[in-house]
Amino acid sequence: MELIPLSLLLSLSLSTILFLLFRTSTARRRNIRSPPGSIGLPLIGETFQLISAYKTENPEPFIDTRVVKYGTVFTTHVFGERTVFSADAETNRFILQNEGRLFESSYPGSIANLVGKHSLLLMRGSLHRRMHSLTMSFANSTIIKDHLLVDIDRLVRRNLDKWTGRILLMEEAKKITFELTLKQLLSIEPCEWSENLRKEYMLVIEGFFCIPLPFFSLTYRRAIQARKRVTEALHLVVRERRVEREKGVKKNDMLAALFDSDCDDDEIVDLLVSLLVAGYDTTSTTMTLAVKFLTDTPSALAELKEEHEEIRKKKGASLALEWDDYKSMPFTQCVVNETLRLSNIISGVFRRAITDVKIKDYTIPKGSKVFASLRAVHLGQENFEDARVFDPWRWQKISDPANFMPFGGGPRRCPGHELARVALSVFLHHLITRFSWIPAEDDKLVFFPTTRTQKRYPIIVQNRNVVG
Ligand code: HEM
Repeated sequence: MELIPLSLLLSLSLSTILFLLFRTSTARRRNIRSPPGSIGLPLIGETFQLISAYKTENPEPFIDTRVVKYGTVFTTHVFGERTVFSADAETNRFILQNEGRLFESSYPGSIANLVGKHSLLLMRGSLHRRMHSLTMSFANSTIIKDHLLVDIDRLVRRNLDKWTGRILLMEEAKKITFELTLKQLLSIEPCEWSENLRKEYMLVIEGFFCIPLPFFSLTYRRAIQARKRVTEALHLVVRERRVEREKGVKKNDMLAALFDSDCDDDEIVDLLVSLLVAGYDTTSTTMTLAVKFLTDTPSALAELKEEHEEIRKKKGASLALEWDDYKSMPFTQCVVNETLRLSNIISGVFRRAITDVKIKDYTIPKGSKVFASLRAVHLGQENFEDARVFDPWRWQKISDPANFMPFGGGPRRCPGHELARVALSVFLHHLITRFSWIPAEDDKLVFFPTTRTQKRYPIIVQNRNVVG
């Protein structure tokens, strides 16, 4: 992420200032009581405070200090816009459940340009409902059980077969999740083409957190060029598959479902781009952080090992995991939950109020940007005891996980939530039953621009089944 150049911020158009001033004074005239807070310096707002806070090792310094000062719902001004932040579980649920009625999704320009205008993240109304349920129908439990699990298991094992000595876990996990997603979406097996496409994808994702002006940001310029190459490559695949389809070749993947849904090629490619983005980085980072948390908590690792060795014993010579095996991993699910809670790969979601919305004693004025922070709730001491400690056992006691929303909620709830859980569980199973490992270097969690480890988590692996 490049810091926002001062000159750029100062050159934000006069019309924006006038618009904001007009809106504020209109709100005042209408006697609206917005959530309390500070909007910082003119134009820049509190953007620099937010960026420098997230560059520390503390996961929530920006929100923590404001919650103490103003309460769990407060106003700030970041990335060129006045924004209402919510660190309150009930308010977050309300915001997410009222998608399309009181709020609509509103992503920063950089992300919107890179995922494409036909992406699920940007769709609204009935088209969004239709495409969301189509995506769900390709990632629900039945499909995973009957169809996807075999590939997940096979591709995870195939990758682990190549591991030896020092590896960068984050890189290896990214390879795995990219291969899984390509297989699910397009029935493409790993090959040189897919690895090249993945490298282009990494450039696209790097552009997500830049100012979306190619002139000001080299990273953003590179991301836009990489996106062009990605869409060209995917257009080619879509065209070839249409020809195959006309010849009667049938495939059971997301692309086949999209052909049946009357989308044109531009729409299909944007959807594919966004599905690859949504599933690839999130799941691989969660895999890496699960291993880091377990390495740092030996008692949890030992209990997890026991669970998986038990499964292995029952299966005898058969290596491939089946659905019943996945369903007999209760402690693994505790580890997955706790990793999702503590790592918060998607720290929160952006929305825009489409009308004045009353929340607590305040009104969020129509047109306001809103950020529902999932991380603030997951790390709030009032929601989880010792909230900042990795404690998978807590999930053996939690009966109502209402404050736990790593996959969002409401009509935009992540359609890949079950798929991510299965991929994580299968990955942990094969990792734990085949390898022991130690960290190769000290590495630490960082929270900006996204949650990850600073050095991509280098570890030294040793195959437990090879003697000597
Ligand atoms: C650990 C892994 C994952 C996490 C933490 C995660 C988290 C989330 C969250 C919080 C949202 C809600 C965004 C919003 O409300 O604006 C979301 C949406 C989405 N996720 Fe995931 N996700 C994960 C894995 C996946 C996978 C594997 C897929 C692949 C199918 C996927 C596909 C999507 C899509 C397409 C959306 C947009 C839904 C919409 O706007 O209707 N995600 N994800």
